[in-house]
Amino acid sequence: MIAFIVHGGAWDIPDDQLGANRAGVEKALTIGWEILSNGGSAVEAVEKAVVSLEDDPTFDAGVGSHVNAAGEIELDASIMNGTTFRAGAVAAVQSIRNPIALARKIMDESEHILLAGSGAVRFALEHGMQRCSNDELLTGRELELWRTLQGRKSFSTKEAFRKKISHDTVGAVALDSDGVIVSGTSTGGTQNKYPGRVGDSPLIGCGTYADSAVGGASCTGWGEAIIKVVLAKTAVDLLERNSADSSAAAAGAIERLVKKADGFGGIILLNHRGVPGVAFNTPRMARAYLTSEMNHSVVEV
Ligand code: GLY
Repeated sequence: MIAFIVHGGAWDIPDDQLGANRAGVEKALTIGWEILSNGGSAVEAVEKAVVSLEDDPTFDAGVGSHVNAAGEIELDASIMNGTTFRAGAVAAVQSIRNPIALARKIMDESEHILLAGSGAVRFALEHGMQRCSNDELLTGRELELWRTLQGRKSFSTKEAFRKKISHDTVGAVALDSDGVIVSGTSTGGTQNKYPGRVGDSPLIGCGTYADSAVGGASCTGWGEAIIKVVLAKTAVDLLERNSADSSAAAAGAIERLVKKADGFGGIILLNHRGVPGVAFNTPRMARAYLTSEMNHSVVEV
């Protein structure tokens, strides 16, 4: 059994962006699936699929990320291997085009899990990665939005998830032919965020979690609420307690997000047998999945 699921963020995706969201998650699914079906690892599938989503300006990750209040792009990402229990993550990192690749390097080549800011950049340069300019990550759409927000007296991140101005986080969960589950998540965070603000995505247990004996999850949505309920680990705990019912675990996690933290967001997960689960309480969420027991992929927005 192999299985792969990706998401491109949960929010109120406008009708004219449905095609781009659908195409982006479908492409990421294809990239990850090719790797898994050729005997590649879940780590490789998750990294390469998330890189594709980061490179696609449609999504709030890598190119096309939101801009913080100081006009900078600061990125968060994480990846976790559910068999080795190793993880790597970066927070508030600037000038790195593919933060998921840096998170993987930290997982594979350091004794640490989470590196932030200038330390993460220093590690990237020492390990053969290049810096990019802020302009390489910045799109006209985000620059225009940032300019609009500078004129406002107040701005609520929570309210942004109710309107068609937010974008959100990308992520993937893979089960490979060795039974390894890996989860990964990457984001530009929220619009106009305070410089240095870190959301759920780089926090193991909040935005990302994997345990190959139980399942793996990647989250999207309002990070301040997701952190409060440790959403990804909550979903995996629910899987452990409910006989691995993926749909019930995803729904139960989002229910808790709403009940305990009045939150907005979405989650994708795989149980240890590769059965996918999806839940969200935003109007829309871009996602795609395929398992070796399915005849064709599901791509939905
Ligand atoms: N879920 C992304 C963030 O809040 O940063």
